[in-house]
Amino acid sequence: MKYSANLTALHTADAVWVAIFEDGVLSETAQQFDTQGEISALIKCGEISGKIGETSLLRQGSQRIFLVGAGKPQEITERQFKQMVQKAFQATKATSAKNLFNGLTDVKIKGRDLYWNVRFAIETLEAESYVFDQFKSQKAETFALENVFFAIETEEVQRAIQQACAVALGVKLARDVANCPPNVCNPKYLADQAETLEKRTALVKTTVLGEKEMAELGMNAYLGVSQGAKNEAQLAIMEYRNHPNPNAKPIVLVGKGLTFDAGGISLKPAAEMDEMKYDMCGAASVYGVMNALVELQLPLNVIGVLAGCENLPDGNAYRPGDILTTMNGLTVEVLNTDAEGRLVLCDTLTYVERFEPECVIDVATLTGACVVALGQHNSGLVSTDDTLAEALFNASQQTQDKAWRLPLSEEYQEQLKSPFADLANIGGRWGGAITAGAFLSNFTKKYPWAHLDIAGTAWLQGANKGATGRPVGLLTQFLMNQCQ
Ligand code: BES
Ligand code: MN
Ligand code: ZN
Repeated sequence: MKYSANLTALHTADAVWVAIFEDGVLSETAQQFDTQGEISALIKCGEISGKIGETSLLRQGSQRIFLVGAGKPQEITERQFKQMVQKAFQATKATSAKNLFNGLTDVKIKGRDLYWNVRFAIETLEAESYVFDQFKSQKAETFALENVFFAIETEEVQRAIQQACAVALGVKLARDVANCPPNVCNPKYLADQAETLEKRTALVKTTVLGEKEMAELGMNAYLGVSQGAKNEAQLAIMEYRNHPNPNAKPIVLVGKGLTFDAGGISLKPAAEMDEMKYDMCGAASVYGVMNALVELQLPLNVIGVLAGCENLPDGNAYRPGDILTTMNGLTVEVLNTDAEGRLVLCDTLTYVERFEPECVIDVATLTGACVVALGQHNSGLVSTDDTLAEALFNASQQTQDKAWRLPLSEEYQEQLKSPFADLANIGGRWGGAITAGAFLSNFTKKYPWAHLDIAGTAWLQGANKGATGRPVGLLTQFLMNQCQ
């Protein structure tokens, strides 16, 4: 859909959203359509009372007026606002309306300004209208809505529209790659996406390393994981350089890209194993963020790294008991081949030292334990740097792409001791999301580092199964904040 600021659309759009507050209080836009008292009459007869989640359709000439319940004025939360937009969109989508005037800018979200009203509205609309039917013979039904107009023609609104569209594009691309099945989206496919981005813009240079190059670099932990797979591991590096000072240190984003994680010899149970195609959602989100960045042309240097690999059982697969020598020299005893993400990441985190990063953030569907700890609403945040952790937490609050920090104190390292090697790849039963982070922290000593565990937030299960595109919103906001 297309979004623009256009005041005159109020009278020309074939659909209008107007907010009705609780106890039937009319918003400003609602008053403009109540000159004959039709809206007041509908409220009076109980058709709509203004509760969040309500919608009602009224016709005025050629215009459809959607009355949208908006709760108590000044008090609604971000989540309630998104629910309003979702409901209003469902109602509008069912009609043949093409041009929508969005009067929900009358709604004040608690603690938020107009900028966020517009951003949340657009990002919600784009997320709601997402379909993934690439592999269906019968394509999803389309809807008529093409244009959405906002009532206020200010720089703030223009900026919100532009930034929301960039974030929404990043989210959509991340969802597309993530939803793609693992027989199509393999490590080579991920690397191909990274190369496509290079073709789109002169600001990005992409390099892809195969297993031969990784072997030369001594990335034996990464290669150990890949060794049971026929498809070759691929490490794709996208360098976006647009900082006014070309020598400015880059921000590095690293995404876990296990295009399928069967667990290896420590094989996973069959139930829900299909969902392990989503074990590349970290890489998908880094790819999405790089695309958003190119849209926004932010004046930064950012390097996005996709660590593509498969974890499969095979006669040549790595075994429990194997000791791998990582790129930074530390040896790791493999006690569970299903704790593969940290092995792929540890070598990638060593590899990125060469960029002398300002900071490194890795994004990974790393542990089931993180989902136990935080559920499916917050990503886990682990960091060795309070300033970086705070900046990521703030971006998560701003965007409501939520994350919550877990502690990372020295004690957790004790759980990773091995009698035979420098480290074990698992830390026992307790605090699994933290011990995974603690493992990684052994490879991040050269720069400020944070880790986002998105095992619970990257995709939805059940009837609405599908990738969410998280944490593209959080990370893009973090980068936007770095420009101020
Ligand atoms: N990709 C999984 C983590 C995962 C599991 C994400 C379920 C989302 C849902 C990861 O590679 C893994 O298997 N982790 C193990 C670690 C354990 C062996 C220490 C886990 O969480 O069970
Ligand atoms: Mn695993
Ligand atoms: Zn995994």
